[in-house]
Amino acid sequence: MRWPPPPPGRPEWSWLLGLRPRRWLRPILRSVARGSDGTAWIASVGGGPGFEFDHLDRVAGFGTAPRILLDAQRPMLERAARRAERGRRADRRLLLGDAATLPFRDGSVGLLLSLGVLCCLTDDGADRAVAEAWRVVRPGGRVVLAVPRWRGAEDDQRHVLQGFVRIGGPRAGRSLFSKPS
Ligand SMILES: C[S@@+](CC[C@H](N)C(=O)[O-])C[C@H]1O[C@@H](n2cnc3c(N)ncnc32)[C@H](O)[C@@H]1O
Repeated sequence: MRWPPPPPGRPEWSWLLGLRPRRWLRPILRSVARGSDGTAWIASVGGGPGFEFDHLDRVAGFGTAPRILLDAQRPMLERAARRAERGRRADRRLLLGDAATLPFRDGSVGLLLSLGVLCCLTDDGADRAVAEAWRVVRPGGRVVLAVPRWRGAEDDQRHVLQGFVRIGGPRAGRSLFSKPS
């Protein structure tokens, strides 16, 4: 393997995303599940091959909440489809789309996952993606953000400026936000 490896945003390197156990994510998801009514949509924006759904599947409390994975690259969605098929998970929808123009209704999402996506976008694209998150997440809903450490403070601030409140997370850029009711 070439070192350092290319960003896993490229489909051919997406398997790298599955190597990290992401231990920090599970407790955050558990805390969100405790407040979930088990029905509101869960959307992973820039979900890639869908590794975050493996974590969601292991957290009790999300009930029959419909799951949707949106990504801008078709090959990523094909990988997500293959993984869902292997795991016999028919409970998720896969959608081709852009984080900056989400095809969801206002206030329709209870939990939005934005893991490793803002760092793929321009500053303007990241601003628009956060504005879209604000539009689609319902009052009282949650956003889980993950970006590399070097841009954590900046992307946390993007959410706060939009109106989100940071309510958890182990460090800047690995954050849980709430949209106030
Ligand atoms: C580093 S990967 C992260 C994948 C997944 N969230 C994870 O953490 O395992 C970034 C993903 O964002 C997607 N992406 C990049 N720009 C996007 C955009 N404008 N809208 C939606 N997805 C995008 C890429 O196709 C890629 O699948």
